[in-house]
Amino acid sequence: MKNSFWKNKKVFITGHTGFKGSWLVLILHHLGAKISGYALDPISKPNFFDNLKLSKFLQHDFRNDIKDFSKLNKAIKKFKPDIVFHLAAQSSVLVSYKNPDDTVKTNIIGTFNLLKSIKLNKSIKSAIIVTTDKVYLNEDKKINFDENSKLGGHDIYSSSKACCEIITESFVKSFINKNKCKIATVRSGNCIGGGDWTEDRIVKDCVEAFIHKKNLLIRSPNATRPWQHVMEPVCGYLKLAEKLFGKNGQKFIGSWNFGPNKINLSVLNLAKIGKKIFNSKSKIIIDKRESKKLHEAKYLSLNSQKSFKILKWKIYMNPQTSLRLTFDWFKVFYAYKKDRKKVIEFTIDQFKNFQKKIKYFN
Ligand SMILES: NC(=O)c1ccc[n+]([C@@H]2O[C@H](COP(=O)([O-])OP(=O)(O)OC[C@H]3O[C@@H](n4cnc5c(N)ncnc54)[C@H](O)[C@@H]3O)[C@@H](O)[C@H]2O)c1
Repeated sequence: MKNSFWKNKKVFITGHTGFKGSWLVLILHHLGAKISGYALDPISKPNFFDNLKLSKFLQHDFRNDIKDFSKLNKAIKKFKPDIVFHLAAQSSVLVSYKNPDDTVKTNIIGTFNLLKSIKLNKSIKSAIIVTTDKVYLNEDKKINFDENSKLGGHDIYSSSKACCEIITESFVKSFINKNKCKIATVRSGNCIGGGDWTEDRIVKDCVEAFIHKKNLLIRSPNATRPWQHVMEPVCGYLKLAEKLFGKNGQKFIGSWNFGPNKINLSVLNLAKIGKKIFNSKSKIIIDKRESKKLHEAKYLSLNSQKSFKILKWKIYMNPQTSLRLTFDWFKVFYAYKKDRKKVIEFTIDQFKNFQKKIKYFN
C-alpha cells in the first residue's frame, strides 16, 4: 500500500466509534488521510474512541443513526469523500438474539441507506462494505468458505450481514456507474486487538478477569475461531480500496475474504494463552448453560486465496502473535490510565511495526 496514496484522501467511515472503526481512524490519520466519521456514541465504558480522544483526528464527527437516510446523506454531501468505509452495524451475534429488529434495521436498511447515498454523491470513487465471515451458510461441515460459497445464516446477525452482501451486489448492478464508483464487500474473521471492550467478546472478558483477578466464565470452549489481529484485515481493506480507486478499479468490484491463517485456536486455548501472558491465577470456568442455549458454529474457516493472489495480501501474524499484541495493548492501557498520549503512541507504534513487515504496503 502506497502511503502517498492516502495522503489527503478524504475518507468517510461509518462506525468510526467502534472497535475496528477506531483502528481505521488511527491508521488513516497516520497515513495522512482527511477523515470524517458517522456513527452512534460508543456503548462500552471504557472505549477506544473516547478514551483515546480520537475525535481530534476527524474533520467531522457525525453522531447519528445510519437508519436515518436524510442525516446520513447530509453528512456525506457536506464532506464530499473520495472513499467510503462502511463499518456501522449491530455487530454482535448475542445482541441479535435479544434485539433482532434493530439488528435487521441497522444492518440491512443501514447498508441500503449508505448505498443510496453513494449513488447520489459523485465525489465517491470507491467504497468498502464490511460484512463478516459469518455470511456463509455454515452447517459445521468443515468447509473452507471461498467467495463463491453459499450465503446463509443461522442467527439474525449472520443473515442480516448475508443480506448486506446480496443487496450490495444487486445495488451495484442496478444503480452504480462502474466507470465512476467501484464498490466491494469484505469478509474477515473474528478480530482481536487493543481497545475492544464490546460485551460478550472473549478477549475483553479475559482481560477484565485477569486484570481484576476474577474468574473467567467462557461459553463454547471448543469452538474454534480464526482469530486475527484487526490490523491484518484493516490493511487488506485499505489495499482493496486503493485498487478500486485506481484506473483498473472495475476488476476489484465484488466480494473478498480476508481470513487468518489456518491455525485456528479454540476459545479455551485463547483464554489459556491470555492467562499465561497476564501471569494470572484466575480460574477458567466453562458456562455450560449458555453454550447449550444459543447456536454457535463450532467450525468456521475462510479461504482467502483470491486476496492472496490478486491483491498480494498476506497474513503476517499467527494467533499467538495477534494475542500478544492485543494483551500488550491492554496492559499499556491500564498502566497509563491517565496518559492517553502514551496509549495512542503505543497503538501507532504497533501499526508502524506491522507496516514495516507487510510487503503489499509498498
Ligand atoms: N470485530 C470483529 O471481530 C468483526 C469481525 C467480522 C466483521 N466485523 C464487522 O466489522 C464492522 C465493525 O465491527 P466492530 O467490531 O468495530 O463493531 P463495534 O460494535 O465495535 O462498532 C460498531 C459501530 O457501528 C456503529 N453503529 C451501530 N449501530 C449504529 C446505527 N444504528 N447507526 C449508526 N452507527 C451505528 C457504532 O456506533 C459503532 O461505531 C461491523 O460491520 C462488524 O459486523 C467485525
